[in-house]
Amino acid sequence: MKGGRQAIGVFDSGIGGLTVVKALMEDLPSESIVYFGDTARVPYGTKSKTTIVKFSLENVEFLLRYGVKCIVIACNTSSSWALPTLRKYFKVPIIGVIRPGALAAVRQTRNKRIGVIGTTATINSRAYEMAIQRLDPRIKVFSHSCPLFVPLVEEGWLNGDICRTIAQRYLQPLVRQRIDTLILGCTHYPLLTKTIQEVVGPSVALVDSGRQTAAEVRGVLLGTDILSDGQAHPRYRFFVTDEPTQFNRIGHRFLGYAIGSVERVNGH
Ligand code: DGL
Repeated sequence: MKGGRQAIGVFDSGIGGLTVVKALMEDLPSESIVYFGDTARVPYGTKSKTTIVKFSLENVEFLLRYGVKCIVIACNTSSSWALPTLRKYFKVPIIGVIRPGALAAVRQTRNKRIGVIGTTATINSRAYEMAIQRLDPRIKVFSHSCPLFVPLVEEGWLNGDICRTIAQRYLQPLVRQRIDTLILGCTHYPLLTKTIQEVVGPSVALVDSGRQTAAEVRGVLLGTDILSDGQAHPRYRFFVTDEPTQFNRIGHRFLGYAIGSVERVNGH
């Protein structure tokens, strides 16, 4: 098959990576996508580096069976810990969400004070902090893990008192640091945009790493001359490692429309 017509492979620890798929579908509508959600082993955000790297290697191996032309790591936690190892092991272009998010935040900030929120593993990795400081060492980075945000989003509690109270608890320390830009460093957080914006106030710009990543993917495909020629209809395939019921039930919240069929794979 002509290089350009091969699909983009996307993996995530579970369902959240669909926010990145949504951005890819909007920005690159001619591209086919193979999505892999490791729903049997989610969450990654509470796990160790060794485990996250091991799972990520397996996820790439799975996607490569479908002849994908590049891999997008939609998961911030995997991107934080596994990207260098994956790039060492595989020749296919691999794009993570950290650098695109960091770059957008560096371009956005005026007062050089950036906040980062993510899972515990992402924040412990300091991956965003390092990426930002590589781009501009004068920038101060303030980070906070928000472990309750993932289950809140999966329960669909995106607004209301409980959600706002938790968001206040997590975000007020960052507001006190006078950040003017906040990176949403987790696949799930774009769904909480309204609540997060209310809590941090209108003067803080929110950066959605997944959305920024779609632009980076376009750049990589153009640069390596493997952008789809747009002649065939794009095809979307979704694979998960556990019962697809939950994925099907709440996937539309992340993707913006109902997912057709989801295939379950065992022991990938
Ligand atoms: N996909 C993960 C991330 O973006 C969140 C869910 C998890 O902890 O696995 O970090």
